[in-house]
Amino acid sequence: MASVAAAATSASASSDALCNKRLEGKVAIITGGASGIGASAIHKFHENGAIVVLADIRDEWGQKIAEDLGENVTYVHCDVSKEEDIINLVDSTVAKYGKLDIMYNNAGVLDKAFGTILDSTRADLDKCLNVNLVGGFLGAKHAARVMAPRKSGCILFTSSACTHVGGLATSAYAVSKYGIMGLTKNLSSELGMHGIRVNCISPYVVVTNILPSDGWAVKEDEVSALGNLKGHVLKPEGIAMAAVYLASDEASYVSGLDLVVDGGYSVVNPTMIHLMERMRL
Ligand SMILES: NC(=O)c1ccc[n+]([C@@H]2O[C@H](COP(=O)([O-])OP(=O)(O)OC[C@H]3O[C@@H](n4cnc5c(N)ncnc54)[C@H](O)[C@@H]3O)[C@@H](O)[C@H]2O)c1
Repeated sequence: MASVAAAATSASASSDALCNKRLEGKVAIITGGASGIGASAIHKFHENGAIVVLADIRDEWGQKIAEDLGENVTYVHCDVSKEEDIINLVDSTVAKYGKLDIMYNNAGVLDKAFGTILDSTRADLDKCLNVNLVGGFLGAKHAARVMAPRKSGCILFTSSACTHVGGLATSAYAVSKYGIMGLTKNLSSELGMHGIRVNCISPYVVVTNILPSDGWAVKEDEVSALGNLKGHVLKPEGIAMAAVYLASDEASYVSGLDLVVDGGYSVVNPTMIHLMERMRL
């Protein structure tokens, strides 16, 4: 009996070990990996057995994460809005590791925490488009260049739940993320013939360094209280694990998907429930 139990425990331990290595043998680039969602994705991809290249403009933060994780994580300075930086990122990864399996275009900026088009400047729009949309476009283009000859690959983007419901972000930010949705759909068509899957993730608000610090103190508990799914807090890890799933072989036939991680926020209109609650009192 004891040996059966021991065998069962050992089988379950080895299956856990296998489950923990969902990206074993894969080479991944994650842009915007020095902070927030990207930094969490670097840790989760590494834990799951991937070789990871962390690309960012925050050299000190990026280098520190790579040093802490040690083997199989390297840092490359890359401003995603500059094509020469993206070319260097992709080509140096392939030169070092022989291939690129996953390109996670996650780097992003917010022009401001709140405001309408009446307060927005051309510079606000350019900032969001250059990093969020042009950066994603260039990342996908050069990843596809090296993935297509191998007839496989996975391209991911971080979009936003603001593409599913109005009022979550500024218009400059929202249009940049709508562009990412368009890229996801169009590239899943263009690149499907090369065996490349293309998906994006649309998060609800996650408290990270993207939120401007000047005069804004956004707190996790307040953001969660406004959310639909009560008793849960959306952390960067919640998005990183969605990326692990989409990058893994578990999602081998998933392409063109916008995986909305918002606890139902964008499909629920709570006003009627609130009215009913008030009427009952
Ligand atoms: N935090 C949220 O509420 C939220 C919600 C929806 C979507 N997103 C998206 O998630 C992604 C990650 O954001 P985050 O919340 O982790 O923010 P963050 O500020 O913590 O991390 C973003 C990272 O991108 C890097 N970056 C900025 N400009 C860059 C450039 N030109 N080239 C390379 N790297 C650059 C930053 O240095 C930073 O390390 C972004 O695309 C963002 O738009 C965030």
